Parts: sequence; structure tokens; C-alpha cells
Amino acid sequence: MSLSQFTSSTPQVEYALGHSSRELDRLSFQGAVFAPFTRQLFAQAGIEPGMRVLDVGSGSGDVSFLAAELVGEGGNVLGVDRSADAVDRARARAIRRNHPNVEFVVGDPAAMQFDQPFDAIVGRFVLMYQDDPVESLRRMTERLRPGGLVVFQELASSACRSCPAVSAYDEAARWMGEALRGSGARPELGMEMHSLFLDSGLPAPGMRMDAVVSGEAESPVYDLLAEAVRSLVPTLLKLNIVSPAHVQIDSLADRIRQEVVARRAVVVSYGLVGAWARKPNA
Ligand SMILES: C[S@@+](CC[C@H](N)C(=O)[O-])C[C@H]1O[C@@H](n2cnc3c(N)ncnc32)[C@H](O)[C@@H]1O
Repeated sequence: MSLSQFTSSTPQVEYALGHSSRELDRLSFQGAVFAPFTRQLFAQAGIEPGMRVLDVGSGSGDVSFLAAELVGEGGNVLGVDRSADAVDRARARAIRRNHPNVEFVVGDPAAMQFDQPFDAIVGRFVLMYQDDPVESLRRMTERLRPGGLVVFQELASSACRSCPAVSAYDEAARWMGEALRGSGARPELGMEMHSLFLDSGLPAPGMRMDAVVSGEAESPVYDLLAEAVRSLVPTLLKLNIVSPAHVQIDSLADRIRQEVVARRAVVVSYGLVGAWARKPNA
């Protein structure tokens, strides 16, 4: 089934992660862990010095800052997020980090007009939250010059696994997928990006997939999942996916870590599927 066939009956997505200060901190932590993957994707896709880039759903600003490194002083990056709290956080970080070629504004790029077309449109973990990802991507692509680049990195939640099985990790991974799905988001959109690009009028994309794999006690991989689950606790409880007594969020990362180390196991984080293509010339 193509994505466009099930978009019309899709319920409105409730953005389940919220924009609390702790969630914005989590985005920065996750951004630091995934930075090498996103940097490699952008370089492979062709983000280059001098480009004018639009970052859709910029959150705390991490993807915009990475793009800004690649486009250099001769280029510029506009990060757009529909949350004013996220934009305030990203702006403050841009000032602290002295990124003069990055700006952040509040809005939804699919519904905004810009004075010039972009050379590239990028985003990470954002199309999965759209009511109609095909229509959103199609409209965003209208803000791109012919031949410009579309580069997105989206979630493959089912990449999470442990070997040998670590019950606390596998259970938390299941909670994350169910909470996102229950809120109307698409936790497997990464694996649907080939058809999403085609349905949006783009060519078949180049693709790659990345994930963190580790069994080291000090790996960030345990907090990566536990902190995502923390932001989803209100949704988990509302949807009765887990009881308040069972979730024990403050000890989750340590319980996973202890079980991994005791079992000499490795765990795989949720996956990031990158997809990129150029907008056809007219
Ligand atoms: C999971 S966060 C990812 C943030 C950032 N891309 C990163 O990887 O760190 C998703 C962000 O996208 C924003 N968002 C979702 N849909 C959007 C839309 N249509 N237009 C603008 N922002 C959007 C949310 O407000 C949220 O801040």
C-alpha cells in the first residue's frame, strides 16, 4: 500500500513528546549521539558550502547547526519549528555557539511562503508526525529550487533489539512504538520513505540506515531509549500501555544497563533511516 492511500483516514497526530525543558534537553542529547550519522548523511546526499538550507522541525537546533557547519560562512540555514519554546531554545543556543549563519522562526514550512527558494530541505524525526506526510513533503518541496536536495532522516522504531534478550530494553522499545503509534505518529516512517518520496513526486531516494550498537556500561544507548520513554510517559499512561507502578521511569536506564552488563548482551538503538533525492528540473 502506498502512503497516499491511507493518509485521508489518518487521525490528527498529537505531538506526544511535548516541548518541556527536559524534552528539549533530550533532543540535544539525542542530537549529540546521532550527530555523526546525520553529518554523514548530509555529506553523502550532497549538502555543500554556500547552500541555503531549510531545516523542517528544527527542535533545539541540532540539525540546523550540523547543516550550518557543512554550508559554511557562504551559506545559511533557516530552522523552522511550530513550537515557540523550541525556537526560543534554538535561538539561545545559536547565540551561545556563535552561529551567525543560522536563524530560527516559528511556523510550519508546508504552510509558509519564503522570499527565495532553498537549495536543500532537510529534517530529522519530523515527517513521522505529519497528518499527511505525502502532502507535507509535496508542499515543502515547492519551496525548493529545481535540482535542489531533499534529505530526511526518520525513525525505524522496530530496529531496537537486544541480543541475548534484555527484557527491560525490549519492553521499553515496545512502549515507545505503541505510544507513538497510539498518538497517530508513524514510528516506522523510515522504512516507508521510498514510497513517500515517490508519492510526493520525487525520484526514488538514495537511502542508508544507522543505529547505535553497544554493550558497554557507559554507552549512551540506554539513556537514549529511556529518555524517549520518559517524554512519552503521559501518553503511555493515558493509553493504558503501562501502569504507573510498572513504568519506574527514573530507574529505567540503570535497570537496562545492569541487565545488559550482567548478560554480556548488546542492544541496538532505534534506527535512523536517511533518504535523499533531487527535485526534478521542471
Ligand atoms: C522529535 S523533534 C526533532 C527535532 C530535530 N529535528 C532533531 O532531530 O533534534 C520534532 C520537532 O518537529 C516539530 N514539528 C513537527 N511537525 C512540524 C511541522 N509541520 N512544522 C514545523 N515543525 C514541526 C516539533 O514541534 C518538534 O520540535
